[in-house]
Amino acid sequence: MMKKFTAVEDILPLQSALTWAKEVKANPFADQSMGKNKTLLMVFFNASLRTRLSTQRAALNMGMNVIVLDINQGAWKLETEHGVVMDGDKSEHILEAIPVMGTYCDIIGVRAFANLQNRDDDYAEIILNQFIRYSGKPVFSMEGATRHPLQSFADLITIEEYKRTPKPKVLLTWTPHPKALPQAVANSFAEWMNQTDYEFIITHPEGYELDAKFVKNARVEYDIEKAYKGVDFVYAKNWSAYTGENYGRVLHANKQWTVDARKMALTENAFFMHCLPVRRNMIVTDEVIESPASIVIPEAANRVVSAQVVLREMLKTL
Ligand code: CP
Repeated sequence: MMKKFTAVEDILPLQSALTWAKEVKANPFADQSMGKNKTLLMVFFNASLRTRLSTQRAALNMGMNVIVLDINQGAWKLETEHGVVMDGDKSEHILEAIPVMGTYCDIIGVRAFANLQNRDDDYAEIILNQFIRYSGKPVFSMEGATRHPLQSFADLITIEEYKRTPKPKVLLTWTPHPKALPQAVANSFAEWMNQTDYEFIITHPEGYELDAKFVKNARVEYDIEKAYKGVDFVYAKNWSAYTGENYGRVLHANKQWTVDARKMALTENAFFMHCLPVRRNMIVTDEVIESPASIVIPEAANRVVSAQVVLREMLKTL
């Protein structure tokens, strides 16, 4: 019974999740009656293109109604701290706003990124957990502070569709970016890969180590050429520093780490993956992302499938 979906543990075992994904992909309109007179509320604290459209499409495939709230565009500015005197610019407390939102819908999706100011606050997933606690409705993450499970599920579906060997070699590589980005996509990808029997390698410059609880048994390889050698999938992502006082900082944006044709030539004809949006010629060269090896578009298309599986499981609980 899926009452929340914020991490891989909420959908285990992966084998049944992948079976559900195949069912949904083969027949996306089979469960139209399941969503009749049910409403999905999507709450965005941050911008989105793919998550917004793919989740909405998934809900429409299930026959649901959809309401979208962009917190920073037209809603009251929300206070999230407890016990503060609200004499500033924030007009409404999240502890009233969340239960109110819960009365208007049957399922809630929430996007609330890390603010990269305080690691403990970010890794406590304060906003997502408040929705789970106070909305009274099933809640799923549309990317939290520490994970992006709908993305990782779509990534797994894509790898399963494209893999040429039963246990592919998958590389997660840090890539340069001018701005500080959360670790959520990388954490989440690692968490999901660690639930498979794939060979999983992570490479990044020194200083960009991820939280050990996500890295788990992955091989961490600091030598870029060794890391790329013989892999079947290259999954690129930038993240800011996680460790110590450098939390949330860009230590450097060394273009040596950009995915280019020279590095891809070290692989076993690897496919290139990225969650998008991607900064060309920072994360990946034009040449690689425009090559037949790039599967970023089918990867994004699978976001509808991952969202629809989650919605279907949550609708079953209503
Ligand atoms: N990959 C992803 O989540 O894209 P958006 O940020 O555009 O939703």
